[in-house]
Order: sequence, then C-alpha cells, then structure tokens
Amino acid sequence: MKHKVDFIHSNESFELEEGSYILESLQQLGVDLPFDCCSGFCGACLMQVEGDVTWASESHCLTQDEVDKGFILSCICKIKESIKVVE
Ligand code: FES
Repeated sequence: MKHKVDFIHSNESFELEEGSYILESLQQLGVDLPFDCCSGFCGACLMQVEGDVTWASESHCLTQDEVDKGFILSCICKIKESIKVVE
C-alpha cells in the first residue's frame, strides 16, 4: 500500500510504500533534502508534518514537546499514513 507525502510549500506530492523510510524513499524519487548522520542524531533531516509516522528508532535530538508538535526526523521515520509536510 502506498501513502502520499504532500509538501505544502512547494505543492509537490509523492507516493511512498508503507513502512519505507521517508528520507531515503524521497531521495530515491529525486527529492533533494538535507541530511547528514541518517541515524537520528544531527537533526539535519528535520521536518514538521501533519499525520502520523512510525519511529524506527529513538530521536536523539528532539524533545517530546517538538515531537508532539509534529516534528520528525525523516531519516528514522517510516511512512504509515498520508502526511503533509508543513515545514
Ligand atoms: S540525518 Fe541526522 S537526524 Fe536525520
């Protein structure tokens, strides 16, 4: 099953396979996104989204408050439903 990722500001939309890593899958589709460690430490891949994701491992640089506001680390988060990227 595929789920949509809508980028609000650029008006772009992509479909990712359920359970795939968001950063990696978007890169494979040619989307140019910032990243560095790819393991949840640096915060370079930070996104703010509307919708729920699966955290594959623990964030090492976000507070619970930031997570509650929809911030995700796209390198360690997997898609589980359609999301909107607001930042
Ligand atoms: S690339 Fe470093 S936290 Fe995602």
